[in-house]
Amino acid sequence: MAELAAVSHDDVMAALATVNDPELHASIVRLGMVKEVVLDAPSVRLKIELTTPACPLKDKIQTDIEAALLPLGLTSVVIEWGAEVRASNPKEGQKAIEGVRNIIAVASNKGGVGKSTVASNLAVALAKAGARVGLVDADITGPNMPTMFGLEQGLQRESTDGLRPVERYGVKLVSIGFLLPKGTPVVWRGPMIGSAVRQLLHDVPWGELDYLIVDLPPGTSDASMSMAQDAPISGAVIVSTPQQVSVEDAMKAVAMFEKLDVPVFGMIENMSYFIAPDTGARYDIFGHGGAAAAAEDLGIDFLGEIPLELAVREGADNGEPIVYGHPESASALAIERIAGNVAARLSVLQRMGN
Ligand SMILES: Nc1ncnc2c1ncn2[C@@H]1O[C@H](COP(=O)(O)OP(=O)(O)O)[C@@H](O)[C@H]1O
Ligand SMILES: [Mg+2]
Repeated sequence: MAELAAVSHDDVMAALATVNDPELHASIVRLGMVKEVVLDAPSVRLKIELTTPACPLKDKIQTDIEAALLPLGLTSVVIEWGAEVRASNPKEGQKAIEGVRNIIAVASNKGGVGKSTVASNLAVALAKAGARVGLVDADITGPNMPTMFGLEQGLQRESTDGLRPVERYGVKLVSIGFLLPKGTPVVWRGPMIGSAVRQLLHDVPWGELDYLIVDLPPGTSDASMSMAQDAPISGAVIVSTPQQVSVEDAMKAVAMFEKLDVPVFGMIENMSYFIAPDTGARYDIFGHGGAAAAAEDLGIDFLGEIPLELAVREGADNGEPIVYGHPESASALAIERIAGNVAARLSVLQRMGN
């Protein structure tokens, strides 16, 4: 086995240098992802640090590493995965939120397309993958997040030190609904909404977060505008249902973010199709593929489709997001894939910006 004994640390690094991160298109060595190599031929133990714990291409990286090391006679490759999520840099005039590395906005121009459902499940999916996640309910006039997380409306109305995040399903949630008893109508004027959103972002003790997801109200509202201008949003995810009227509104949302110089990670098609649970027959209730086609037209990424599923609506009403309550369901799997895509888009964007 003289040949094996001759494998050196340098040989391993040279072989690993040929392995590219499939998203970032650069060598994992050059990207600084190889944190440790413990060589004991024919075994080797590696510590690889990803740019997100929700990396969708971990398996691909593993296969490529094994293939690169095999010619050296290294037949047992054990990888310990880690992740270090980088922070997006604020642009001029924007104020970073202390401890928050990245802000992801979930938006559309239409109500009822599933923004809040997507935002809540995206947050839970990223937390499940191991990220530190916060969620802001920025729908000031109709905060739904307490219900979607099974929390009592108004639970902090007696609080003397303002809003504090409540942790549930691994996510730190803040909602204006924490201050208002159920059913209280909120009539805010534009400038007040702007300042309320600013407070929701900046005056809350978030601690250290990899991702802060912001659930926006529909439309090019004061909330979205003031937030986009004030806080360093890393990127926006646009939710649409398949039908034309929804797609048109989603396209307006894309245009709005582009005008505000906020990158758009891509578009999601929600309620994309329905599989009848009793017969297995498929119905495209709102049509199908409209969002993907629009994404292509706009030259942005299509991040995935989520079926219309009874359990999604039940989970939202019962305060248990489907990714947590029914992780094996088609919708939950779709949202977890989308979460990986969003996290990967963010890593790519940061790499381009650095
Ligand atoms: N994929 C889905 N399958 C079933 N029901 C859904 C799905 N997405 C959203 N819903 C339901 O549709 C309604 C509107 O969703 P919501 O997330 O509140 O939309 P928005 O925040 O865009 O107004 C809610 O009752 C929600 O439970
Ligand atoms: Mg909503």
